[in-house]
Amino acid sequence: MTAVGIDAIEIWTGKLRLDLPNTFAPEKGEDPEKYTKGLGLASSSFPDVYEDIVTMGANAAKRLMDREGLAPDDIGRIDVATESAFDNSKPVSTYIAGCLEQVYDGDFHHANKGERKFACLSGTQSIDDAYNWIKAGRHRGRAALVIATDTALYERGDPGEATQGAGAVAMLITENPSIVELSTEQGYGSADETDFLKPNQQFPSVDGKRSVQVYLARMREALEDYESVAGDTHPDDFEYIPFHTPFPGMVRKAAVLGFRHMTRDTDVEDELADEIGMQPRESEYDTWDDYEEAIRAYMDDLKETEQYREWYATTIEPTLSISRNVGNWYTGSVHIARLSALRDALERGDELAGKRMLVGSYGSGAQAEIHAETIVDGWAEHVEAIDVDGQLDRRQDITYDEYELIHDVHNHAKEVDVEEFTAPESEFVFTGWGRMNERR
Ligand code: HMG
Repeated sequence: MTAVGIDAIEIWTGKLRLDLPNTFAPEKGEDPEKYTKGLGLASSSFPDVYEDIVTMGANAAKRLMDREGLAPDDIGRIDVATESAFDNSKPVSTYIAGCLEQVYDGDFHHANKGERKFACLSGTQSIDDAYNWIKAGRHRGRAALVIATDTALYERGDPGEATQGAGAVAMLITENPSIVELSTEQGYGSADETDFLKPNQQFPSVDGKRSVQVYLARMREALEDYESVAGDTHPDDFEYIPFHTPFPGMVRKAAVLGFRHMTRDTDVEDELADEIGMQPRESEYDTWDDYEEAIRAYMDDLKETEQYREWYATTIEPTLSISRNVGNWYTGSVHIARLSALRDALERGDELAGKRMLVGSYGSGAQAEIHAETIVDGWAEHVEAIDVDGQLDRRQDITYDEYELIHDVHNHAKEVDVEEFTAPESEFVFTGWGRMNERR
């Protein structure tokens, strides 16, 4: 069977950086440790005045195409995953293709284009669509370009404001990929939920605390569903476990739940029994509430064990390094978690080929999806070529007042004249609704 997976990755971060503990927290009258310790965030990325989901997506895609030496003819499909679209009819992929056609010979006239929506999950769903298209043999030897691009902005004053971010991830999906091969097995946890939604509105209506519970419930269901097709999982099976990361603190909660689940009826549970007892079994409790309380107590103890701490430090923590500095990228979030993990292995000089990751994607509304990925030969060279640190370092720091201005500029309901700004050369920039996006 032909392997299908991710052959190349590029990112484009919003060009501005808001320091959360030092700039944002004091203005909000909050303790900076809510960010550093609670949410696990140092800063967020914001789009500059001349950036939007199209420019970030097109700039990421161009970098990827240039590095891989690709021409439009090599690409048979462009899917954009976003929950920040500004057009209810024309997909963002057509705007991005239009940008790219300004700079390459050839065009995307015979590429299938679309836009995928299921909150943050749609980046992974677009990879799925590409996978299925290639596996079905409809690709005529061409690659699929998947672009996850979002400006994750909340209404000012909403608790979600703490977790904002903006950026794009471009991924090339091919046969015989050079970074990871995707498993055929997948698990889903899906239910009609209203904890985070945007019915005809730019900024989400969010019940933040509930959204955290829904994330955990759907992720657990997806893991159980994955195991029903792939067999039981064990913590040692996976080198890294990248999760959808709205903020690293969310992943801390998901990780302990996952570890507890994966250690049921295993050698690890037996090893831990003397220290923290066996895991609570539902049959041992009279009510569901008592059972849940016992699980919570077990997980609190579990987090303090050496086994858990070591597993977390090597399997989970490395997936958070980019997210900690950019905030939530919605559809791109789980894909920067994967990239963070691969960069960690590169820095440590680990040879990963043949090893596996378990990837947990999530979208509000709500659905979680879990699949495995096998890292393949060539991954290190590809990951090394991605200039993540340079992009993060080149961001311009903004003051709180500048943050408010930028938030207003990107608010579709406001008309804000930015008196002076210089858009850079050699990248796609947004120059106003009349002219849309162009390359300078
Ligand atoms: P909040 O009210 O700003 O913060 O809401 P908090 O008071 O709950 O504090 C956050 C954490 O910091 C807590 O940790 C505090 O204890 C801790 P926890 O108890 O949860 O472990 N904390 C401190 N720690 C140390 N020192 C201190 C301190 N103060 C507080 N001084 C919330 C936080 C995430 C709810 C809010 O930011 C929000 O609504 N965010 C948007 C929704 C969201 O991100 N939900 C996540 C799950 S849903 C999801 O991931 C999907 C999504 O990406 C969208 C999509 O799919 O499209 C959002």
